[in-house]
Amino acid sequence: MGESVTWHLACVVCEATYPGLEMRYRCDCSGTLDVVHDLSHCTLTREKLDARLASKNPLDRSGVWRFRELILPLGEEVLEAIAVTRGEGSTHLYEASTLGARVGVANLWLKHEGENPTGSFKDRGMTAAITLAKHLGMGAVACASTGNTSASMASYAARAGMDAIVFIPEGEIAFGKLSQALAYGAKTIQIEGDFDDAMELVQKVCDSEGIYLVNSINPFRIEGQKAIGFEIMQDLDWQVPDWIVLPGGNLGNNTAIAKGLVELHQLGIIQRLPRLAVVQAAGANPLYTAWTSGEDVVPVKADTIASAIKIGSPVSWRKSMRGIEALNGVVTEVTDDQIMDAKAMVDAAGIGAEPASCATVAGIKRLVEEGTIKPHEKVVGILTGHLLKDPEVVVNYHTEGIEGIESRHANAPISSSAEIDEIRKIIRS
Ligand code: F0G
Repeated sequence: MGESVTWHLACVVCEATYPGLEMRYRCDCSGTLDVVHDLSHCTLTREKLDARLASKNPLDRSGVWRFRELILPLGEEVLEAIAVTRGEGSTHLYEASTLGARVGVANLWLKHEGENPTGSFKDRGMTAAITLAKHLGMGAVACASTGNTSASMASYAARAGMDAIVFIPEGEIAFGKLSQALAYGAKTIQIEGDFDDAMELVQKVCDSEGIYLVNSINPFRIEGQKAIGFEIMQDLDWQVPDWIVLPGGNLGNNTAIAKGLVELHQLGIIQRLPRLAVVQAAGANPLYTAWTSGEDVVPVKADTIASAIKIGSPVSWRKSMRGIEALNGVVTEVTDDQIMDAKAMVDAAGIGAEPASCATVAGIKRLVEEGTIKPHEKVVGILTGHLLKDPEVVVNYHTEGIEGIESRHANAPISSSAEIDEIRKIIRS
């Protein structure tokens, strides 16, 4: 495509650059790529962004495309014609001080990305990637997934009239997510192996078959997901919190949020940067190990109840570390027992989220206990996926229990005959 755009691609390792619309996910040196925007002509202001909250333009009503100048600036006319949007984003930021008191911070807010159209934050990256796929004239898209990326891709590809091919580890993804991929019509290939095997395979298949890869190695996925950070700032009327805390698996999301906030800061739309905390499951913790040792990431064999983040060889670790450093961040890890304990609290607060999301709250608790997060600081935790993504783990937790997990907050269903007296007895007991 000969058109000129206001961004280019740059290698995270060797800094080689490529044209903005070149079809590639890696540099010739195999490093991952960033989208580098030319911000010198960007005229975005708080006022302009706030005015869009009252607009009826579908682009303004999307919590991704509202920030389009910083996402995929193809111009109003092109985006109005081709954007593949389901009105993603605009998720609720919950005031959660009661829950906060239980984990040691009074000023706690939870951004619920499970309130996106397919129930996870992936929709933000996917609307950008599928829109670009359409612009590039692609007919088929693919991803490897622990479930949420595939659910999102299947939906957005169906909306765009593209074929969708999903690679998932057999028996390892939660039923809500598998149901979505099947229902939206994706060709769903369950491989004998884990997510890391699936990720390796999908890259080879996309290269040889000319299929567009929409995992977060695709730099445009990252561009869409930046909008989580933008929206948190807008939700808080541009007053920057002390911390943003989120789970880390393949490490695309923390990369995205850090990149976006650095850009927003460069534009002067926010006055300072928050700190960032990335929380990994202890059984899938290659970033945590690398961060604490100061070494490069060494892949591990992943194992955790939080299947969304059961990833041992994260693709975006280099970009991720760069973002964490830029935001004076930290990396921590939490056990499955801590994740499920936090989940029971998030669920019982009437908010609810899937296990991986609740690593966020378990991580906040640990960081407060260790003195990294101070009790008076303002903390925004990101809940990445909906409670109903993984109903099996919820029912198991509240009924027969899960091996290695203490069901401290179990709320099992009570069986009763259909006799009113027995029911009264249960209610009064
Ligand atoms: N939370 C949920 C609910 C997720 O689905 C994922 C990733 C993460 C957190 C971690 O985000 O990978 O950007 O560090 N899920 C991917 C998937 C891997 O295939 O759905 P990350």
